[in-house]
Amino acid sequence: GKVRAPTHIISTISDDRGEEPCYGGVPMSSIVEQGYGVGDVISLLWFKRSLPRYCTHFIEICIMLCADHGPCVSGAHNTIVTARAGKDLVSSLVSGLLTIGPRFGGAIDDAARYFKDAYDRNLTPYEFVESMKKKGIRVPGIGHRIKRADNRDKRVELLQSFARTHFPSVKYMEYAEQVETYTLSKANNLVLNVDGAIGSLFLDLLAGSGMFTKQEIDEIIEIGYLNGLFVLARSIGLIGHTFDQKRLKQPLYRHPWEDVLYTK
Ligand code: ACO
Ligand code: LMR
Repeated sequence: GKVRAPTHIISTISDDRGEEPCYGGVPMSSIVEQGYGVGDVISLLWFKRSLPRYCTHFIEICIMLCADHGPCVSGAHNTIVTARAGKDLVSSLVSGLLTIGPRFGGAIDDAARYFKDAYDRNLTPYEFVESMKKKGIRVPGIGHRIKRADNRDKRVELLQSFARTHFPSVKYMEYAEQVETYTLSKANNLVLNVDGAIGSLFLDLLAGSGMFTKQEIDEIIEIGYLNGLFVLARSIGLIGHTFDQKRLKQPLYRHPWEDVLYTK
């Protein structure tokens, strides 16, 4: 009989062996002919299923809203400095991407984890926030450097308004809003930020779409798929910043002495 050579890689999301590549079993021609968008491609390659239109639309809105936030944020700053050091596109891009983490853009998974755990355990916002404080952990998804109660993040409002209209349930989002109401009673900058909005709303998407088992939702949250949305989105902006600096022929960046406190 046939002897099967042992394989070193197992792959389940795409296949390039036929006449055309397939994403999650869907041939490229169907993807193009049926007018699939980036949200559909993410559904197939990340979530391994076709999601309803409101879900793929939501994913696309997340990507568009997080594509850029100006030159002053950590990621863009690193990218700009790297591009001005004469480095290539990939180096400039990854230099910016490397800043994405628990403080900047990469709090989505933790926001989803902590909001889900608190909601599922019926903790009041007070109990949740105060228990985090006791543990010395900042609430992921809460707080912003420039956004305030009187200068809310428009991106958060847009995501929430889309979800209120299209999602069957927004229970996690409402919980996150209640947490925000409590944190805002403590300090004016403790708004629900875009990471927290996406984290809580993705919980609603996963739970409300009927497309995922409870076990699959737990796995998605445990592995941490959701920061991928910010990484993917912000790559668009970081690539733009690289081109911008090159187009403007900007010289090597050196930070001004006056802006450094030299001390012993
Ligand atoms: N939970 C609880 N308390 C907080 C939080 C939070 N998430 N954020 C700030 N505070 C409180 C703390 O008391 C803090 O004092 P501490 O330094 O003694 O802990 C005080 O507010 C002031 O905090 P700052 O450090 O001045 O706030 P800053 O403006 O530097 O931080 C940041 C902004 C980094 C976003 C912060 O709020 C935070 O860590 N949030 C959680 C992580 C997060 O959600 N990041 C994503 C931001 S959105 C984005 O990047 C796209
Ligand atoms: C962003 O999207 O980069 C921001 O929310 C972070 C910031 O400081 O503006």
